[in-house]
Amino acid sequence: MSLKNREYFFKHVLVLLLCGVLAVACTSGKEEIPGEGKSMSIKKEDFGKTGAGEKVDLYTLTNRNNMVVKITNYGAIVTSLPVPGKEGKLADVVLGFDTLKEYEAPHPYFGAIVGRVGNRIAKGKFTLDGVTYTLALNNGNHHLHGGIKGFDKVVWKAEEIKKENEVGIKLSYLSKDGEEGYPGNLAVTIVYSLTNDNELKINYLATTDKPTPVNLTHHSYFNLEGAGEGDVLEHLLTIPADTFAQADEELIPSGELLPVENTPLDFRRPAGIGNRIKEVPGGYDHNYVLNNTGGSLCFAARVEAPRSGRVMEVFTTEPGIQLYTGNFLDGSNKGKGGKVYHKHYGFCLETQHYPDSPNQPGFPSIILRPGQEYRHLTIYKFSLKKN
Ligand code: BGC
Repeated sequence: MSLKNREYFFKHVLVLLLCGVLAVACTSGKEEIPGEGKSMSIKKEDFGKTGAGEKVDLYTLTNRNNMVVKITNYGAIVTSLPVPGKEGKLADVVLGFDTLKEYEAPHPYFGAIVGRVGNRIAKGKFTLDGVTYTLALNNGNHHLHGGIKGFDKVVWKAEEIKKENEVGIKLSYLSKDGEEGYPGNLAVTIVYSLTNDNELKINYLATTDKPTPVNLTHHSYFNLEGAGEGDVLEHLLTIPADTFAQADEELIPSGELLPVENTPLDFRRPAGIGNRIKEVPGGYDHNYVLNNTGGSLCFAARVEAPRSGRVMEVFTTEPGIQLYTGNFLDGSNKGKGGKVYHKHYGFCLETQHYPDSPNQPGFPSIILRPGQEYRHLTIYKFSLKKN
């Protein structure tokens, strides 16, 4: 190489090298924010009128990653939750229907908020401050999920909420003194938010003017491979609970908390939901005692879908979680897009207090008194399995 050529070569290589270094420096200094630039949004659509003529809406919350959740103010129901899987493939991970009419017809609480007291109250009776109350019976001899017309079947008042890192709707409902047999006017607020960390956050708040039991929860049936896409038996489940509330065949607790050790209920290490389900008559429908009783936000469950790699983690301030594996789904519910939901096609992870608490002096109390606030936070966080 001549001197001139060498000079030319070095000049150009040097310039190129410098550009490269500058480019790397520029890009590495800038953190990649997923979906940056895209904006969060809330869309409100007409979802029709109830049989009683009440107007109902459907809200679509979208976060910066383009994750979406649809919620109606009828029953505070999550109707749709498309979550990305491998290669960004979206699948709606909650069971439900396309129309309000179908949500008004009998169904097993798909996506709803249940209350005033979720889960069972034995014989629909409890005594509080010396007075015995009789509740509506809607589950054989027992009261379940708030009664005949629980919070899943009422129209909630809705208000849109936009914050820096989340979009949401605030749903309010006044449950009147005597409703379904419960004492006291109970003012309930549920805030559903979708955060930019792909979390569905549920903030519950309630106040009362007379002492009353309160145990609110969310009743989505999840299938992380997609609603209607087979059963959930191969999903890997973790629940960090050492004990569960022992219950009889009608699912009424004895009051004893038994260890999960050496039983098919032990999910302290990840295990397939179906691995030992045959040893559990009917399937899982159990209330786990979480290892947190202090009311702080704690890890409560993790589920991983084997094929799509979708992961859902649950965090809650509640002391218990009901695992229900869709044991009573029998194909009679035709869901969204005509998909049929058979036995074990979904699982529920309902964060709550233990069943029949008003009749179990050994369980943490669910009695709310005037001047107190019922507060409960649960987060369902979605992500992809890391390889
Ligand atoms: C209960 C089940 C019940 C289901 C639907 C669950 O929360 O634990 O026993 O069948 O809800 O009603």
